[in-house]
Amino acid sequence: MTINKGLFSSASPEWATPQDLFDRLNKEYVFTLDPCASAWNAKCPKYFTKEQNGLLLSWYGERVFMNPPYGREIGKWIAKAYKEVQDGAHLAVCLLPARTDTRWWQEYVMKVWPNGIEFLAGRLKFVGQNGTKTSAPFPSAIVTFLHVYKDAVIEYSAIGFPIDTKTGLYICPTCKVELRGFSGPYLLSRCPRCKREWSFTD
Ligand SMILES: C[S@@+](CC[C@H](N)C(=O)[O-])C[C@H]1O[C@@H](n2cnc3c(N)ncnc32)[C@H](O)[C@@H]1O
Repeated sequence: MTINKGLFSSASPEWATPQDLFDRLNKEYVFTLDPCASAWNAKCPKYFTKEQNGLLLSWYGERVFMNPPYGREIGKWIAKAYKEVQDGAHLAVCLLPARTDTRWWQEYVMKVWPNGIEFLAGRLKFVGQNGTKTSAPFPSAIVTFLHVYKDAVIEYSAIGFPIDTKTGLYICPTCKVELRGFSGPYLLSRCPRCKREWSFTD
């Protein structure tokens, strides 16, 4: 195992998310788009590459997993994720270095403090193209931006889940986040943002 300071810099933007971490998150959120990827490390069938430039494309309607390049451009990726979720992406779950002193952390990540931030224990082992695993020289966090549907009229569906009767969308009664897409095999028993447990007697 090596520790690679290049993970900090724009010189090595290719390191892939550990598959077990992605699998854990994907089970909960069911992602549809990886907006910063290469063919070999893409985490979703739909992905954008550097040549396409995911910063300039729309993420509307998508459920996004984002592990951005960690170089100087990182702030642009956090700003993009935040804005796209305001504009109609359902959610953006971001794997980020836990740099709490940066402008992007203070401006965007703190908007979802505390429920939208999961600080990961230890150091992640990122994966290179040849399969090499390299320990990050920094701590990581999962930061989740969720689209909030503000005018919901919340009642409970026949199966006990909160539902907006005007739109048919599932809405968390506690934090009001819109949970479109969680149906059929993806029904949840707790809100992915505020972690409230739902019960059939709610
Ligand atoms: C940290 S890696 C993450 C890869 C993969 N999404 C994952 O989670 O394993 C960042 C990826 O973003 C790609 N990338 C860099 N600039 C980009 C851009 N403007 N648009 C889309 N992808 C970009 C890099 O080539 C690299 O594959």
